Amino acid sequence: MKYKELITQMTLEEKASLMSGKDFWQTQDIKRLGINSMFLADGPHGIRRQEAAADQLGLNASIPATCYPTAATVANSWNADLGEKVGDFLGEEAIAQKVNVLLGPGINMKRNPLCGRNFEYFSEDPYHAGKMAASYIRGIQSHGVSACVKHFAVNNQEERRMSIDTIVDERTLREVYLTAFEIAVKEGKTKTIMSSYNRLNGDYTNENQHLMQEILRKEWNYDGVVVTDWGGSNDRIAGLLAGNELEMPTTDGQTDREIIEAIKSGKLEEKVLDESVDRLLDLIFSTNEVFEKAYKKEFDVEKHHRVAQKVAEESIVLLKNEDNLLPLKFGKKVAVVGDFAKDARYQGAGSSIVNPTILDHTMNCFEESGILSIGYERGFDRYGKKNVELINRACSLAEKADVVFLYIGLDEMTEAEGLDRKNMKIPDNQVDLLYALHKVNPNIVAILSCGSAVEMPWIDKVKGLLHGYLGGQAGARAILRVLSGDVNPSGKLAETYPLRYEETPSFQNFPGNEASVEYREALYIGYRYYDTADVDVLFPFGYGLSYTNFEYSDIHVDKDGVTFKLTNTGDIAGMEVAQLYVGCESSEIFRAKKELKGFDKIFINAGETKTVAIPFDDKTFRYFNVRTNKWEVEEAEYEIMIGASSADIRLEDTIFIEGTGASVPYDKEKLPSYYSGNANNISKEEFEILLEREVPVSTWDRTKPLGYTDTIEQCQYAKGLFGRLIYHSIVFAHWSLWKIGKRSTANLIMMSIYHMPFRGIARLTGGIVNMPMLDGILMMVNGQFFKGLRHVFKERRKKIKLANIN
Ligand code: BGC
Repeated sequence: MKYKELITQMTLEEKASLMSGKDFWQTQDIKRLGINSMFLADGPHGIRRQEAAADQLGLNASIPATCYPTAATVANSWNADLGEKVGDFLGEEAIAQKVNVLLGPGINMKRNPLCGRNFEYFSEDPYHAGKMAASYIRGIQSHGVSACVKHFAVNNQEERRMSIDTIVDERTLREVYLTAFEIAVKEGKTKTIMSSYNRLNGDYTNENQHLMQEILRKEWNYDGVVVTDWGGSNDRIAGLLAGNELEMPTTDGQTDREIIEAIKSGKLEEKVLDESVDRLLDLIFSTNEVFEKAYKKEFDVEKHHRVAQKVAEESIVLLKNEDNLLPLKFGKKVAVVGDFAKDARYQGAGSSIVNPTILDHTMNCFEESGILSIGYERGFDRYGKKNVELINRACSLAEKADVVFLYIGLDEMTEAEGLDRKNMKIPDNQVDLLYALHKVNPNIVAILSCGSAVEMPWIDKVKGLLHGYLGGQAGARAILRVLSGDVNPSGKLAETYPLRYEETPSFQNFPGNEASVEYREALYIGYRYYDTADVDVLFPFGYGLSYTNFEYSDIHVDKDGVTFKLTNTGDIAGMEVAQLYVGCESSEIFRAKKELKGFDKIFINAGETKTVAIPFDDKTFRYFNVRTNKWEVEEAEYEIMIGASSADIRLEDTIFIEGTGASVPYDKEKLPSYYSGNANNISKEEFEILLEREVPVSTWDRTKPLGYTDTIEQCQYAKGLFGRLIYHSIVFAHWSLWKIGKRSTANLIMMSIYHMPFRGIARLTGGIVNMPMLDGILMMVNGQFFKGLRHVFKERRKKIKLANIN
């Protein structure tokens, strides 16, 4: 232990006190030993440090900080150096705001397009997400503060995120859901990891020995800190045993006392606590070092804004450009239509929300873009129904224009933490407007603002389509620079756009049932499924257009990697994202037709040719063998593919790779869907064969009284009238707040109350309600109203008395 000497000077109480927060965002300090607090703050695309009273829900405004494009956006740049730059600038702002641990990046896989937090995550591919994450972490941590990758792991939906049990087979877990974290740990060297709220194969991730000990600590040799997601600690001792050092936020000493009792009773060895303290001290001391010297308390707001713009420019994806309508020809008259042009949609809702230092809106930047606008019309109500008057006005303007820029997208409430989207559509009133505009002027360029994939049955009504995702505070200006041709677009999608939601592989199993969600599609998420099962998509993974063209030639493959030539055959400079995919010619072990194993973004001048090299690494040929419980390599001939997207392979070669000799872990006959890749409707029986066990009952047990881990939502069948009343009042409050337009408050109710387990009342109220009081509340909910009420009061008196003694 690094801090052995210091730890020997600490009392048991002091050691335990370090294991949970001092308040909502800070860790405990021990002044007499020179141990200071650490400040942890969201978030992944900008700092959210609250000025006034801290509250996780973000009701209190945070100190202004640069709002960079969200992770889903920067992912489209496919530029790891750019990711490092974002991290670098985030790190600088973290220093300026005295933040030790930045709670990001979020690196969960986009298993399903409806996940409400997809805008915060990078990709549907673990290699891509891992590489981007490692670059962010390097940038952030170059300042001496810590990043915090989250949410470890298999937190791929918001619905019941605090209670759902994710059922996933070991190979899929390793290959799809953990690889990005593995890269973040091994290559990014993240100093902090946040465990997720959900369970994994039965145990809360935070207590899951397999995940936290066997994989994270032993296999990956992780020696950093694990922090719970806010309010996500369940059994504190089980968490500590699994290696969770820090529980956040404060529990007012409740769980510290549990730790002390566990040590006194012999349930927990003091050694375990000491080792956790040691790792936490390392984080506290190393991230506080920078604040002990003179440090920059300010950052250059304008400069950071410009960087946010550059990042957005490189992340915008051109999806359609019929008749080469873009870049807009000089002198063309443009009608600007759509609410999003006036009021930019630039980030998502929830804990990642940033209070921007500056905010660009399209209409405010138009003049400097050099594009000739003949006027603006709102066209639709962001939250309203079809408005004929707005449509008519937009059409009269469009009639007079050469080209229409139509700004459409999803509103702020639809993509939010705590809630999944209900469908993949953009609102009908926007589509109605598009159809009406198309009748008067077919030269429409749609500019899309949203952080995740949407269906586009209207795609043939637009000639141009530019997807800005959620471009941060300077995103609006960045988009105009692409439209005008000042910037040549170079973004490519980091997720597939299916034709219809029903065609997504997890459609049948998202968001699962009451108690669990079964990942029956296994490895086949995103392009791994569409490609293998031969399902047509709207836009494939890795797709994006440029104003120039690139030609690929001269592939050469050897044991170290692949090289090839890339020529810019157009007449302007541009950047191309070249992607390396690998497929295996043997069919002994089921796998996706191809998997991303490398990528590079290359700047090439018009007419120039460059040689590109993409090296192989430890992940190029590996698969996880569930018999040997190790990564193995199958001896076979492998296809090496270089593509402009996952569906546009330009060069191909093969290479023979010697294997590790492990035997095939599957019985092919019994897993026909997995071997064929037709994984969107797998039976329970076949899934159980893959899992090698039965799936747990996926419904709530309505016969039992409600307990700590049951959620407020489950009060709908509580034994006591009081419990059912709570349920109906919450549903009513949500409904009425939504009706009167208080949508974000309504969303907060769903996010923070409806799906919260009862124990959250004690974990998230900073000690106002403790566990014994919670026992009383549960009695009330379960039908013993008066007995429970008396218990609550009795325990409250005890708590006050204890506080007075201390
Ligand atoms: C979110 C985390 C976030 C934390 C602190 C949680 O609800 O899931 O991503 O970092 O709150 O705000």
